[in-house]
Amino acid sequence: MANNKKNNSKRAADTSMSYIGPKLKFEGREAYNLLRTNLMFAIKRNDRNARVIGVTSSIHGEGKSLTAINMAYSIAEGGQRVVLVECDLRLPTLRKKINLPKTTGLSNLLAGINSENATLHKDVLIKNFDVVQAGDIPPNPSELLGSKQFALLIDNLAENYDVVILDLPPVGEVSDALVASKVTDGIVVVVRQDYTQSSDLDYTLRQLQLVNAKIIGFVYNGASSRAKKYGYGYGKKYKYGYAAASNSKK
Ligand SMILES: Nc1ncnc2c1ncn2[C@@H]1O[C@H](COP(=O)(O)OP(=O)(O)O)[C@@H](O)[C@H]1O
Ligand SMILES: [Mg+2]
Repeated sequence: MANNKKNNSKRAADTSMSYIGPKLKFEGREAYNLLRTNLMFAIKRNDRNARVIGVTSSIHGEGKSLTAINMAYSIAEGGQRVVLVECDLRLPTLRKKINLPKTTGLSNLLAGINSENATLHKDVLIKNFDVVQAGDIPPNPSELLGSKQFALLIDNLAENYDVVILDLPPVGEVSDALVASKVTDGIVVVVRQDYTQSSDLDYTLRQLQLVNAKIIGFVYNGASSRAKKYGYGYGKKYKYGYAAASNSKK
């Protein structure tokens, strides 16, 4: 029995744990620090106190959540207050990735079931890094993310943090990310080496442009040194800044 339990918990562990925050190798941490600096230049503070940044990609598995966590970690490490809001309400993964207790989250907040205080995890991984996880899977994610309550919640968080990061769902599969992008000041698009198809990326960028999202740049996830050049190629082709290679596995 004890052995089974051990095996099950091993199976449940997300392999990305070793690519997160303090466990990142030097190259990965440097890439995220560069990304942090680029983001601060790419988005000027507007009438809100905080910069609100969305992280999305074309399909699942490209590394949006990993990127969002590492961005948040790097920003908190740099001394700013950051809150990461898990907006992938259909396929939440933050709880396993950063070992959070199972609590209510964004969906419950938006449905008016819980207060912000009850759902906010404070000082996760490092001081000044707070998290709102997705919460119970709702029947109507697009509706919730397009609601006035969502916009109000983000405005409210923007009052209390320097940076609000939205871990968005993929653009290619459902409309949730496009709907949620409306509350952001800028969007980072994650592209993963040997994974993202350029036709899917074309589609994603067209969709984001149609809703007037401000695409700040790309994160090239899983880049080898050969692929870093490839990453610049993407930036050139699509005429966007190339944010940084990440989670390097040289
Ligand atoms: N650079 C990387 N190196 C190794 N594994 C990665 C890397 N990026 C993502 N992964 C793996 O891919 C899975 C999907 O990543 P995730 O951040 O959850 O993607 P998304 O949020 O885009 O669906 C993670 O569980 C992780 O194990
Ligand atoms: Mg995700």
